[in-house]
Amino acid sequence: MEQDLAKSRAGAEAARHVKHGMTIGLGTGSTTAFAIAAIGKRIHEEGLQVRGIPTSSSAELEARKHGVPLCTFDEVQGKLDIAFDGADEVSPALDLIKGRGAAHTREKIIASQSRRFAVLVDPSKLVKKLGTKAPVPIEVIPLAAPVVLRTLQQMGARASLRLGLRKDGPVVTDQGFWVIDAEFPPIDHPAALSRELLNLPGVLDHGLFVGLATEVIVGTESGVDVIQRPSNLPA
Ligand code: A5P
Repeated sequence: MEQDLAKSRAGAEAARHVKHGMTIGLGTGSTTAFAIAAIGKRIHEEGLQVRGIPTSSSAELEARKHGVPLCTFDEVQGKLDIAFDGADEVSPALDLIKGRGAAHTREKIIASQSRRFAVLVDPSKLVKKLGTKAPVPIEVIPLAAPVVLRTLQQMGARASLRLGLRKDGPVVTDQGFWVIDAEFPPIDHPAALSRELLNLPGVLDHGLFVGLATEVIVGTESGVDVIQRPSNLPA
């Protein structure tokens, strides 16, 4: 319950950052769902005019439920004004692990195409090093899954194919691909690991988000903390 309260505070704070006429990235997951609901409330109550690009079929359903108008990259000139999304882990350098909901590939595209990328979390997501609690999800072409699994094991990860909970067989992403979850020892060099993973044939993208977040909104028991990207780190 307390965690839900923290998530809802982060979501409500995110909605306060939205201004009339903005185009926004709509993230996936339980925390961003609070932001989408709060943005929908402002649309309904204040006549706020915004358009959003959803990061997944799940985010699209949330947006439709709350009356947030949707658009595509064809309809947007230049970058989105701001994207909101959750995270599974956030490091002190504001690097992230994402993809518990298997949406990280589209989430990364949208984050990279946004002037601001605000990450919404509760305090349980803040870690000293990435890889402390969460595996790194890796979206793969199904044909390549056994090969990528073997390579990840050779790289020192405990890797397994993500299986459906209420579906037999593998989780199938919005792109029709599969997801491998790779548990690495705490990650000292996320940028180097990111490059290494992207170089594996058959990998579409992975859940390490390095240098993308511009700010992190942490909902807490007592309110909200906003952590800005340190100016000495590249955005
Ligand atoms: C979706 O694929 C993920 O990247 C989520 O954004 C992330 O897992 C955070 O989700 P919660 O807000 O539900 O914890």
